Amino acid sequence: MIALCLEELLIRPMQAADLEQVLAIDQASFAMPWPASAYRYELFENPNSWLWVAETKPAEGTFQIIGMIVVWLILDEAHIATIAVHPDFRGQGIAQHLLSIALADAIRQGCVQATLEVRAGNLGAQHLYRRFGFQVVGIRPRYYRDNNEDAWIMTLAELGDQYLTWLEQGGWQRAPEGSGRAAGSF
Ligand SMILES: CC(C)(COP(=O)(O)OP(=O)(O)OC[C@H]1O[C@@H](n2cnc3c(N)ncnc32)[C@H](O)[C@@H]1OP(=O)(O)O)[C@@H](O)C(=O)NCCC(=O)NCCS
Repeated sequence: MIALCLEELLIRPMQAADLEQVLAIDQASFAMPWPASAYRYELFENPNSWLWVAETKPAEGTFQIIGMIVVWLILDEAHIATIAVHPDFRGQGIAQHLLSIALADAIRQGCVQATLEVRAGNLGAQHLYRRFGFQVVGIRPRYYRDNNEDAWIMTLAELGDQYLTWLEQGGWQRAPEGSGRAAGSF
């Protein structure tokens, strides 16, 4: 693991120059990575797609992308299409920062709920989502074609001003370990 000082972390919109590093993270993170054409479509053509990266600057004049999130904003719903963190930088809160910025942006754009699919066996990602208040609401049996794994559908139906304040105050950083965010705690 490469330890990161959080002051070195910048979450910002994805740009074309980020694509090569984003694709490398995607390929290191998923059994079925998105092709470059999918990222290009999301970045340049899909008006409903909001893409964010986590950037660090290992040396003056250089930058490294260490994580990304893609969110589709459709009417009043934010759908988390993908999120990944570079394997060398996991376990340091990068995904929480990405999710926090992306959800705050979605609320400011009028979203009142968020949804996503996660592999039934992806306990790490499920833990991350529970910290933000997502709950399992359904199952898509054998959704993933590579191994016929089920997808869990998780939703967060509480987006609004109070949740935005909770995000902006970093409430997700203080959630009790293992318990997720308690209902009504924001
Ligand atoms: C899931 C993923 C994005 C998490 O990124 P990360 O930066 O390591 O996550 P964070 O450090 O922000 O951790 C967030 C919370 O989830 C927990 N968590 C993250 N990965 C975990 C794992 N593998 N096992 C158990 N808990 C895990 C953390 O412990 C933390 O909770 P805590 O503060 O209560 O301890 C990263 O592991 C990844 O890129 N995985 C491959 C791609 C993927 O599965 N994406 C999700 C698709 S639905």
